[in-house]
Amino acid sequence: MNEMFSLAGRTALITGASRGLGFAMAQGLAQAGAHVVLNGRHPETLQARALELTQAGLKASFAAFNATDEAAARNAIAAIETAHGGLDILIANAGTNIRRSILEMTTEEWRHVLDVDLTACFTLARDAAKGMVARRWGRIIFTASILSTVGRSMVPAYTASKHGVAGLMRAMGAELGRTGVTVNAIAPGYIRTELTRPLTEDAVFTAWLESRTPLGRWGEPDEVAGAAVFLASNAASYVNGHLLTVDGGHTANA
Ligand SMILES: NC(=O)c1ccc[n+]([C@@H]2O[C@H](COP(=O)([O-])OP(=O)(O)OC[C@H]3O[C@@H](n4cnc5c(N)ncnc54)[C@H](OP(=O)(O)O)[C@@H]3O)[C@@H](O)[C@H]2O)c1
Repeated sequence: MNEMFSLAGRTALITGASRGLGFAMAQGLAQAGAHVVLNGRHPETLQARALELTQAGLKASFAAFNATDEAAARNAIAAIETAHGGLDILIANAGTNIRRSILEMTTEEWRHVLDVDLTACFTLARDAAKGMVARRWGRIIFTASILSTVGRSMVPAYTASKHGVAGLMRAMGAELGRTGVTVNAIAPGYIRTELTRPLTEDAVFTAWLESRTPLGRWGEPDEVAGAAVFLASNAASYVNGHLLTVDGGHTANA
């Protein structure tokens, strides 16, 4: 690994890392030398995924908690800081979606999506940032979406949350820049994961996506990992408040 991109000696917490983009980004960070702490809600799954990484010679452990449980998240951050001498990198990635017409979405459904996709990003980033500011170094990376800048039908709460994540990222980046902490976000396009399974299994949608995306295909989770390594590394030392799109050119092709 080129020294500029090395994460040796860094400790990273990645929420929603039991599968999909979170696991791929955790694997990328670990391959760059970081110790990665995988988060999700199910300890057995996380233990198996962490074992996959350690058996490959990488440094990994896990912390099971619901990202919306503020107290549990705060305890996990404190435990990481005690065990590793600090938390250097947070990737607030855990996310969910409810595909529903705005005419049919209930307020409970709306609140649930906002809780997981936006409010948990705020509480995690706030609580991780405190130690980073005290140590004068940190990297906060949110998983936003191309739906942080454009709108699509049937995903009103998700789109509102992801627009909110982009705003939170810019506000935090503006406030924390002088403290040695940078705050950025990745905006993936359509990537093949459990979350997008209803779409990957939809032949009509897939045909539309392939015709609409300059690279002509779905993205794969490990194609997002490089962006996370870059933003976490010294190569991105002057990158702050930036939304990095990884979408095969989808949104450029208006
Ligand atoms: N796939 C795409 O095309 C795409 C595009 C743009 C943005 N994104 C964003 O990328 C992120 C990851 O999505 P993905 O596609 O990788 O989805 P995924 O395969 O469904 O993975 C979601 C991850 O989040 C975890 N999770 C869900 N709710 C959680 C909670 N309350 N607390 C802790 N962990 C929770 C899940 O773990 P457990 O179920 O084991 O808890 C899982 O590890 C999301 O923020 C999503 O919005 C995805």
